[in-house]
Amino acid sequence: MIMKSNTKLVFPQQSYDGLGLAPDVLTDIFDYLQDGDVQKVVEFGSGSSTGFLLSCRHTYDLEFSLDSFDHSTEYCFKSPSSHDNFNLMIRDLVQYTDEEYLEILNSSNIPTGSLFSKENYGDWRAKNVFYAIEEGDLANCYDLVVLDGPNGNGRSVAFRYLVDRVRTGTKIVIDDYHHYPFVESCKKILNVKLLKKINKPDFHPLHGYAVLEVI
Ligand SMILES: C[S@@+](CC[C@H](N)C(=O)[O-])C[C@H]1O[C@@H](n2cnc3c(N)ncnc32)[C@H](O)[C@@H]1O
Repeated sequence: MIMKSNTKLVFPQQSYDGLGLAPDVLTDIFDYLQDGDVQKVVEFGSGSSTGFLLSCRHTYDLEFSLDSFDHSTEYCFKSPSSHDNFNLMIRDLVQYTDEEYLEILNSSNIPTGSLFSKENYGDWRAKNVFYAIEEGDLANCYDLVVLDGPNGNGRSVAFRYLVDRVRTGTKIVIDDYHHYPFVESCKKILNVKLLKKINKPDFHPLHGYAVLEVI
């Protein structure tokens, strides 16, 4: 449902190396941004996708604010210029024990966890790890959520943080949805319905994303 011509959409080069969001995910995100109701976006896992979001906002005169989280100053989005209503938050990673992780999935409590060693930040399959979200980091309500970090199964912690911070109609885009049971966790914690699951192994063997909508 692209409403305006997207001939000016420029996909980041990095999206072809398997790490950045792929063009089809970015195109869906572009569609959601244009539905007229998107004022606040939160992105977990910054990078070329952040540049894409800011470039869409500029090119199409969109007015959403963007909160973006990452743990890495090396791999996060970097811009030569400043952007209004853009908040890049570099946060440590916190690791939860299995018991704590289950508590997050099953109750309203988010335990403190323990700091994840920076030496292990390159671990693609880090267990039960999420950003050390601080008081005041998150806005009251997001209209669009892009979940693409950190690496590992711990991304599901985002859903607990998003309780009461989404509204009916908020879209939640989950990259790599099939690597861990992210969709199941999202359904367990938030009142959502699945809109789509997309896999294009011909594009990239690991490619896959899902979109859910808050109901
Ligand atoms: C899947 S990536 C996020 C990509 C981002 N949403 C984008 O579209 O560019 C998840 C995290 O991996 C980290 N990362 C990115 N490239 C990396 C690399 N080459 N080596 C290690 N970590 C990397 C970044 O901190 C990033 O937030």
